Amino acid sequence: MKHLLSTADLSRSEALLLLDTASQMAQTQQREIKKLPTLRGRTVVNLFFEDSTRTRISFEAAAKRLSADVINFSVKGSAVSKGESLKDTALTLHAMGADAVVVRHWASGAAYQLAHSGWFDATVVNAGDGTHQHPTQALLDSFTMRRHLVGTPDNPDGVGHDLAGQHVAIVGDVLHSRVARANVHLLHTLGARVTLVAPPTLVPVGVSTWPCDTSYSFDETLATGPDAVMMLRVQRERMSGGAGAFFPSVVEYMRRYGLDRDRLATLPEHTIVMHPGPMNRGLEISAEAADGPRSVIVEQVTNGVAVRMAALYLLLAGETP
Ligand code: NCD
Repeated sequence: MKHLLSTADLSRSEALLLLDTASQMAQTQQREIKKLPTLRGRTVVNLFFEDSTRTRISFEAAAKRLSADVINFSVKGSAVSKGESLKDTALTLHAMGADAVVVRHWASGAAYQLAHSGWFDATVVNAGDGTHQHPTQALLDSFTMRRHLVGTPDNPDGVGHDLAGQHVAIVGDVLHSRVARANVHLLHTLGARVTLVAPPTLVPVGVSTWPCDTSYSFDETLATGPDAVMMLRVQRERMSGGAGAFFPSVVEYMRRYGLDRDRLATLPEHTIVMHPGPMNRGLEISAEAADGPRSVIVEQVTNGVAVRMAALYLLLAGETP
């Protein structure tokens, strides 16, 4: 594996290797000294064309804990705001000797373009491209599901196991969500069943070709007792014409598609509540759901570091011990 661009590219064994390696990385993060020497002398550039809190910090922490040199390149304050192209930015990174480029970009396909352009030969990790893909988010989501739904006292992370037999509901603004797309493919590869739940205006064209079911009714899907409920952020910044072009009102959206106290109470005992963040509290998710005992939202963030350590390790150090 040279690049990590899309969960659709991952085989079952590659996905399991990433998750199992993340478990090992998570164990090292329980130690007093969290730093490993594995990527000493390597340079990882975080190239962020879109705002981000947790993904950028998480990649930075992951690279630093593997002892890589980290350069954070955010577009604000760089020559990109003077109109420099992706190509010239790539050539600059090449000239600086980047071994890996972690890229987030508002254009779907930007990570592919960087990886396959021939502008440089660095490893490319997609940290979110437009509405297309966000593979490390899906991996940390599967890691978190596996720990809660498959893990046992002897094997708390469920190492070696996939998610066969699990049912995951992914709810909300599917249309604009790279998190949903990345999860649909990875969960399918890992044997889980996925139901996308969204109002008709927020279901992408062509969804019938995806390996999942679609429902317009959150309540009907909840009645089937899903094992995990993943709420998506309503992405107002991607809604040209404003949210009003997609649903009548915030109150209406919350009433039909929000995870509120009443819906929370209908979930089976073991069901976990997830959200990639940032949350719109009071829109797609209520405080009771976000902060309640079923919520694994904070743990998703913690697990993100171990998953990104695993990805950087496997991509850059490969088989070397
Ligand atoms: C997601 C993203 O940026 O795609 N957030 C994240 O990476 N934690 C989801 C979102 O922005 O809603």
